[in-house]
Amino acid sequence: MSDDPQAHLRRAMLQQLRDWQSAGVNVAPHGRVLEVSEELLSAEVPAAQAAVAAAPVEPPPPVEPPKHDTTVPPTSPEPSPSEPPTPVASGNPQQQLDQLAAEVAQCVKCEELACTRTQTVFGVGSPTARICFFGEAPGADEDKQGEPFVGRAGQLLTQIIEACTFKREEVYILNTLKCRPPGNRNPTPEENANCMPYFVRQLEIIQPEYIVCLGKFAAQNLLQSEAAIGRLRGQFHEYNGAKVIATYHPAYLLRNPAAKRDVWEDMKMMLRDMGIPIPGDKR
Ligand code: URA
Repeated sequence: MSDDPQAHLRRAMLQQLRDWQSAGVNVAPHGRVLEVSEELLSAEVPAAQAAVAAAPVEPPPPVEPPKHDTTVPPTSPEPSPSEPPTPVASGNPQQQLDQLAAEVAQCVKCEELACTRTQTVFGVGSPTARICFFGEAPGADEDKQGEPFVGRAGQLLTQIIEACTFKREEVYILNTLKCRPPGNRNPTPEENANCMPYFVRQLEIIQPEYIVCLGKFAAQNLLQSEAAIGRLRGQFHEYNGAKVIATYHPAYLLRNPAAKRDVWEDMKMMLRDMGIPIPGDKR
């Protein structure tokens, strides 16, 4: 063995590199491949370079797995915690209404109403009606029977409909709210907002030519207005291509029969516009 310090250094390097190679280390920390060859190692290596080469080398950093493209969803995504998708209605208007009614029957958006109702009260009548009568919310009778306007106010509404020469089955009757507020209290703004998508979809399916809003609550909701019913009545408004009439609620007429005259004027305005002869009208 030579005492030449350079030869000693080369041997040490060679041994070191063989050890790394047998341990599977063949990538330099900066990514350059170390080709361990006798030829290279036997060459003259400047002392400084040789010192660097012989220095203990940290094991290479663990190879990082390829980064996932974050725009590509994982192959088995976790189920989304969001609400179940609203089913898309299909079929004829009656089928679409039935589908929507089934959805409404499951609704629990308003905790108190969902807990206290007997059932939801969706709507009744012809799915292709020219006229929709649009009320506020079910009362005790409606909550029991599952049909809007079946109590005393409902009987008066039926008389109004018949005075207009229609049968109840020929028009469509619905409410802003599908559940009875306990004790017939006023609906809250939150209940109102929760239920609005249902009447919006009902009206989209039926596409009536006329919507008769019964009372302030229905009129203000549909027209997104804060005006009093006395200011809204007596003229046509517009909602998604339908002509809207705002008039007094039948329950108000039960307490104030003198207002029936105004309601009849509102109905005559609609009938004239529809081209329907008005019973007993001399004009
Ligand atoms: N009042 C309403 O507004 N709707 C009904 O269904 C019954 C009474």
